[in-house]
Order: sequence, then structure tokens, then C-alpha cells
Amino acid sequence: MRPALPILAARALGAAAALLALAGPAAPARAAYPERPITLIVPFAAGGPTDVVSRIVAEHMSRTLGQQIVVENVAGAGGTTGILRGAQSPPDGYTIMMGHMGTHGAAPAVYPDLKYDPVKDFEPIGLAAGTPIVIVARKDFPAKDLKEFVAYVKANSEKLNEAHAGPGSVSFTTCAFLNSLLGAKPTRVAYRGTGPALNDLVAGQVDYMCDQIVNLVPQVQAGTIRAYAVALPQRSPALPDVPTTKEGGLPEYQVSAWNAMFAPKGTPPAVTRRLNEALLAALEDPATSKRLTDLGGDLSNKEARTPAGLRKLVESEVARWKKVLADGGAAK
Ligand code: MLT
Repeated sequence: MRPALPILAARALGAAAALLALAGPAAPARAAYPERPITLIVPFAAGGPTDVVSRIVAEHMSRTLGQQIVVENVAGAGGTTGILRGAQSPPDGYTIMMGHMGTHGAAPAVYPDLKYDPVKDFEPIGLAAGTPIVIVARKDFPAKDLKEFVAYVKANSEKLNEAHAGPGSVSFTTCAFLNSLLGAKPTRVAYRGTGPALNDLVAGQVDYMCDQIVNLVPQVQAGTIRAYAVALPQRSPALPDVPTTKEGGLPEYQVSAWNAMFAPKGTPPAVTRRLNEALLAALEDPATSKRLTDLGGDLSNKEARTPAGLRKLVESEVARWKKVLADGGAAK
């Protein structure tokens, strides 16, 4: 971790520069931001759900902003490495992050010494998409439906490998919840993202995982993995043949994730407003929203698309996962 004083100094300088560019009477042009490419930190490996959502949204936002948003994958520690790097960046609008239910909800419950506060250390930009969780397994997993999956995992869990994206990630916490419901103790295999984990699931190297739908639809459609259930009250239009956990006999397993953009604390409001406008333009664009919904992305939560709405979501998620951990569901 970089030392605290230079971080604060860099923040102050970055914020001052951004303010001058936006508002100073001596500034030559009001619309200076952004005047160079913006880095979007994706805190997981390329090819996974966070990366997929980020690249779809960033492509349209780049057009709106007239500057490229460049995705940088900074993986590690269940997404907290990349988010910490983003939180420590100058708050000038040129480094932003795609966080999610793990990095900005579950992580404080999983890492007692987490070096950032999901509420206090960020300026929320807006929600990109909700991402329902699907229980998936290698294609030759010996269970034809969720009931058989549950029975098989209960009876054999110590021989099974479950893949996830590191402690605190969405896949880690949501499968910890599933394992606790089933009393299962599989070997938990950590990856730098569920993109690489999915490759190993397709290759039959690991047995099952709980992942965000946007990572899974093409593989489920191609039959290279098995999908047992969507952990939602109703089926996802992106995978209409996959039953809900309620239909499959495991109604207690209801869990969904989300991906959202954040800037470092201290980023000027005019900058976050500009980024929020560009995000909204992306989500309201028919082609961009179709790309997300075709993959199962849920664009229904419009309230959390605003910075204030996203702040509320983060606060409630941090509280929710603290309780889940206290109840023993997300720790191991
Ligand atoms: C997660 O489990 O948190 C995500 O699936 C990570 C990723 O985007 O790879």
C-alpha cells in the first residue's frame, strides 16, 4: 500500500487541477473535462462478468465523453486490490472503478482489516447493471436438476472443487452462502476472476460455481456447462429454460449481485455528474442496453443509477453482508 500522506497530497492536487479545468474563471474552456483518456479499473481478470459489463458500458461512454475509457484489469484479493488502487488514485476523474456487490458490500465483512471504506472512500457514479446469480457445474456433473445437484453435493462435497474469484468476491460470498445452506465443505479454489474460473469449469477441471449470469449465458446456450438454477424469484429472460431456485426446491437460496461505477473520494461533483450523464446515456441507448440484457443484465433499478441512490445501495449491502457473516454464511 502506498503511504497515506502522498495519497492525500495527490488527491488534493488532482482535485484542484480538475476544478480549475472545470470551473475557474481563468480557465479557457468550461468543457475541458475530459481532455485525455480515462482509466476504468476492473478489479478482476479480463473476460469475467465485471470485465464484460465494464467494456460494454465503457464503449458507449467513450463516445459520449469524446475520450476513450481504457479498461485496466487489476485483479487480486477478491477485487479489493484494484479497488484500493482506485481509491488511492488522484480524484481528478481520470481514474474510476467498476465495483460490485463483493468489493462494495461483502468485502468489509470478509476482511476485518480492509484498507478502504466502501461508503466513505468513494464518490458513487451510478449502478451499471444488476447481475443475478446462477448455480452452474461442469457439463458432465452427475445431476440432471437442482434436486439431484443438492443431494450429490451434500453427499460428496469433500471430494468436490468449487471455483470462485477470491475471498470477498461475489462468487465467493454467494457460494459460501450456498455451501452453508447445504452443509457442504468442498475445496474452494480461488481464481483472479470468474473468467478464468469458467474456462476451467468448461474444461472440467473444477466441479461447480455460483456466478453472475452475464458471464454464463453463451456457455449455457452452447451446452459447455450445466446451469441448475437462477437464484431469483422469477426466471431470467436471458436463460428462460433454467428454473429458479424456488422451482428447483431450494427457495432459501435467493441472491443477486450488481456492478456499479465509483470515483475516488474528493472527485469534484461536476466531474462525477459528467460521468453519471455518460453512464445514463449508455444504459438508455437501445443497442447498449440490449447487449447487457441479452446476457441477463438487470437494468430495472433506476434509482441506484443516481449517485445518491447508489450510495444508499452500498450502505444497505454493507449492512446486509455484515449480518450474513454474523449468521455464519459468508465467512468460509
Ligand atoms: C466475482 O465473483 O466477484 C466476479 O465474478 C469476478 C469477476 O468479474 O471475474
